[in-house]
Amino acid sequence: MDEVSRIEYLRQFLHEQNRNYYVLNSPVISDKQYDDLLHELSLLEAKHPELFDPNSPTERVGSDISLEFEQVRHERPMLSLGNTYSRDEVTAFYNRVISAVGRNVDISCELKFDGTSISLIYDNGKLVRAATRGDGIIGDDVTRNVRTIKSVPLQLVGNFPAHLEMRGEILMPHAGFEALNKQRIDIGEPPFANPRNAAAGSLKQRISSAVAQRPLDCMLYYVLTDDIDFVSHTQSLNEAKKWGFVISPGHKLCHSLTEIFDFIDHWDVERHNLPYDIDGIVLKVDELALQNALGLTAKSPRWATAYKFKAEQAHSRLLEVSYQVGRTGIITPVANMEPVPLAGTIVKRASLHNVDIIRGLDLHIGDSVIIEKGGEIIPKIVGVDIELRPSDAKPVAFPTHCPQCGSPLVREDGEAGFYCQNYTFCPPQIVGKLIHFVHRGAMDIDQIGEANVELLYQSGLVSNVADFYNLSVSDFERLPGYQQKSARKAYDGIVQSKSKPFDRVLFALGIRYVGNTVAKTLAQAFENIDNLANASIEQLVSQQDIGIKIATSVKSFFSKEENLQLINRLRLAGLNFALERKQNISDSLSGKQFVVSGVFADISRDALKELIEQHGGKISSSISSKTNFIVAGDNMGPAKLEKAQKLGVPIISFEQLKQLFNVN
Ligand code: IVH
Repeated sequence: MDEVSRIEYLRQFLHEQNRNYYVLNSPVISDKQYDDLLHELSLLEAKHPELFDPNSPTERVGSDISLEFEQVRHERPMLSLGNTYSRDEVTAFYNRVISAVGRNVDISCELKFDGTSISLIYDNGKLVRAATRGDGIIGDDVTRNVRTIKSVPLQLVGNFPAHLEMRGEILMPHAGFEALNKQRIDIGEPPFANPRNAAAGSLKQRISSAVAQRPLDCMLYYVLTDDIDFVSHTQSLNEAKKWGFVISPGHKLCHSLTEIFDFIDHWDVERHNLPYDIDGIVLKVDELALQNALGLTAKSPRWATAYKFKAEQAHSRLLEVSYQVGRTGIITPVANMEPVPLAGTIVKRASLHNVDIIRGLDLHIGDSVIIEKGGEIIPKIVGVDIELRPSDAKPVAFPTHCPQCGSPLVREDGEAGFYCQNYTFCPPQIVGKLIHFVHRGAMDIDQIGEANVELLYQSGLVSNVADFYNLSVSDFERLPGYQQKSARKAYDGIVQSKSKPFDRVLFALGIRYVGNTVAKTLAQAFENIDNLANASIEQLVSQQDIGIKIATSVKSFFSKEENLQLINRLRLAGLNFALERKQNISDSLSGKQFVVSGVFADISRDALKELIEQHGGKISSSISSKTNFIVAGDNMGPAKLEKAQKLGVPIISFEQLKQLFNVN
């Protein structure tokens, strides 16, 4: 098979495997096999820029290039739905439809996904555009971000229409939401309030490779095409399933009001067992001819409505408020309550987030509190029954000093939270920093788990991250739970961590607001820790996606003597504090030799050469048989042109070059 056919074959095959994995939930090949084939495809694509396809499975990884969202006009307005919490109104909707039509009507009942709506446009089976709802008429073009969502097919299969719009919901499943919030709290970012905000926020990130790391999913519920005359909505969904879309799992055609209410009752309970949030049920007239006949009002169709579930509530008594100290020193108040069952779990604790929430609720110890789980998994206190307040109840007093180390708490300007500023010696902050340092996204010393970090700290062996590198095998052997073999492994893990690249080390240092994407940006921009430590606020904020909040935090970190000492110790231990020249943005051009010729409108020649090198390519000044590509701008010299043609070296534009390493 020649390379061109191999590319075609791999694209096809990997699209299929992707569908097996994400849509059908039944993978046929192993993850490793998938990754290997994907790697093979990306190498071949680099060799054949002329075959660039934005929908290739290799495009799923996203790009590091920031994007400003373009505004796009929807082909058809994205209407919302009338909605209600009342069963009587469901009955009224049903009766209205029946009397307008004059006969019995089938109603398609579906889950109402609690995410953010999306419109996907497919031309000849390829995803060409994804847009948010926006104001319903004009939305944001988020195509590059949506391409990273694995359950969105980039290439359709089967008998799909030539032009198609699919509408659906982008959502974040609970497990991913919890993990994401944990990470955010870890770097001092405020957690998302709920999976819906997390999904919408993730979709609007400007760096698509960061979106690729967000656990997003997509459910589709509306097929719009002029190319096929469907009889019913259900039929269109069933067809769309065959083209590769993930269609609403809980979809049922109901023939009577009783069936509709059975469906509602079923999901009002069952929703708690779903891996993501739904906030109600959508009812749609199934026959498309009837939908047309019923028509639209200005804001929503007359042929559909939504019944929203009431958030489940329970009453309990507030016993006490405890205060957790995070790695960054932030104090989080937690309500401890008498245990009560709520939506399938026993609730006894709820985060109160910050002092403003406590004040807003006017919370007193002993209060009768109302807890809600609004489809979300995390319970929250939404109110207090003041009538039931004991006469001697005392208002919750937010502490003035750290409950763990006694230091005064400080609320910084513009911050919702109070912080313990004893960053170096407050025990939970120390342990939090140690755990952050070894965790997977950072130095990845997975032979030492959280409990062992705690143990190392308690035993006095480790009180800052540099101490890890002074540990010996016998230090571990003396700790409970370690055997000879596991002690050796833990030690080896520490040694191996020394080869982690600069950006990981930077992230592991635990500078507030410096998550792994920001750490990568800083590492690339400043190249080594000294440049970074000496960078001014202006230099910091001039970097893509570095705002004043991050810049101030970085500056403040490097202004502290103890941090500089720590870095010195880590440097002596052999950790990477500079970008390795080899550490490129990507190796998509690796093994390729380039000659750059002519003048470019968008980039200087030197910057272009550097860009090629950053993607692993080699630059040569003259054309030879070893040259793989000539990147030509305007006014390429005639001698070069002739030589290139003689040797058959492909001449590509800057645009085509960018496609080689996935930049737009
Ligand atoms: S149909 C014209 N079906 O709910 C009808 N919408 O309040 C278009 N939603 O904007 C919508 N699950 O974001 C439909 N199964 C479902 C849905 C659903 C969630 C969202 C959607 C829409 C909003 C309407």
